Amino acid sequence: MKKALITGINGQDGSYLAEFLLEKDYKVYGTLRRSSVNTTERIRHLLDESNLEKHQNPKKIHLVYGDLTDSLNVTRIIKEIEPDEIYNLAAQSHVAVSFDEPEYTANADGVGTLRILEAVRILGLEEKTRIYQASTSELYGKVEEIPQTENTPFHPRSPYAVAKMYAFWITKHYREAYHLFASNGILFNHESERRGETFVTRKITLAAARIAQGLQDKLYLGNLSSKRDWGYAKDYVECMWRILQHQEAEDFVVATGETKTVREFCTLAFRYAGIELEWDGTGIDEKGIDKKTGRVFVEVSREFFRPAEVDLLLGNPEKAKRELHWDPRQTAFEALVQLMVKHDMEYVKRIK
Ligand code: NAP
Ligand code: GDD
Repeated sequence: MKKALITGINGQDGSYLAEFLLEKDYKVYGTLRRSSVNTTERIRHLLDESNLEKHQNPKKIHLVYGDLTDSLNVTRIIKEIEPDEIYNLAAQSHVAVSFDEPEYTANADGVGTLRILEAVRILGLEEKTRIYQASTSELYGKVEEIPQTENTPFHPRSPYAVAKMYAFWITKHYREAYHLFASNGILFNHESERRGETFVTRKITLAAARIAQGLQDKLYLGNLSSKRDWGYAKDYVECMWRILQHQEAEDFVVATGETKTVREFCTLAFRYAGIELEWDGTGIDEKGIDKKTGRVFVEVSREFFRPAEVDLLLGNPEKAKRELHWDPRQTAFEALVQLMVKHDMEYVKRIK
């Protein structure tokens, strides 16, 4: 039985990856940060409820308290588990927040990755342990090429992206210098019904569901013209696993090869919630108006603009398709928006 350690197991990707690896008969360990409230909502079904406090059900996932800013903790966890595979998903993952917390973001997202790599080296696990690093399309930032491939130069545009740039290169460096099996997955945006509520897609699908049910008046957004290559998180965790099963440690772009604006996402989400929007005005004055009633449901607010923006992301997933036999279009854009809205229509009804 292979042992996998997932840092950030209670995050969006961590929860899907844990399900995927359990299906494949892995023994799955995951790190959880101590919190004054319960943060296991996404993985509750993978825990033994009667044993929640100890987080120790042999048939399900095993939780250990962990924080990537604590090197002693990281080293001890890896020493005790001796994992065959480490998926380093833990991060302060919100780009806008990284402008407010740049030092913490550098510590967790940048140096945190170094702590894992160095622990594996110190413990002499170079031959045993394969490492997946959650790299990001944010590295391309002010893009120097469209679409972006594994060879496109990086131009990061946020403290988050700069921290992830360190993590990308230190992963590559440990591969070259110490022959660790350490790979970067350069993942473009991927969303789901488990997406954090302050990322734009989930913010939109939740608002569309609330507005459709008369529970919210308006949705305020930032840059409507920003373009993203949006895929489904469940499809993307499969590719993470494939990256570590590859014969050699390499870096891969994971994307759909299709890009849409925030405005397009919004129009479609409202449509699936039963509201047909039309857009009027430009820039800060642009509004999304209900065609039927003339009511303004979407407005632009300066609050959600960033000091520096990434205007357009579009990935070329050819290498992952060719070498990993991964299908980037398992869930099409329309299907993704539809499943998120369907989920949130139910969710909002349940909790109102
Ligand atoms: P997420 O939902 O925000 O999950 C992040 C996880 O990291 C959470 O479990 C969080 O724990 C944990 N974490 C945060 N700081 C930590 C620390 N100092 N020590 C230990 N754990 C910590 O993010 P996600 O969308 O699943 O993304 C997973 C990874 O992929 C992240 O590294 C992200 O940067 C990267 N990525 C994501 C995307 C995307 O579109 N989703 C694309 C490219 C790359 P708490 O619950 O306690 O906060
Ligand atoms: N969050 C948010 N809220 N974003 C908004 C809003 C809003 O109200 N209005 C417009 N946007 C725009 C952002 O400016 C950005 O251009 C785009 O919507 C997507 O924003 P997010 O959903 O916050 O995601 P992100 O692209 O910044 O970052 C995500 O994807 C990266 C991969 O490219 C995160 O998951 C990162 O962790 C990940 O690395």
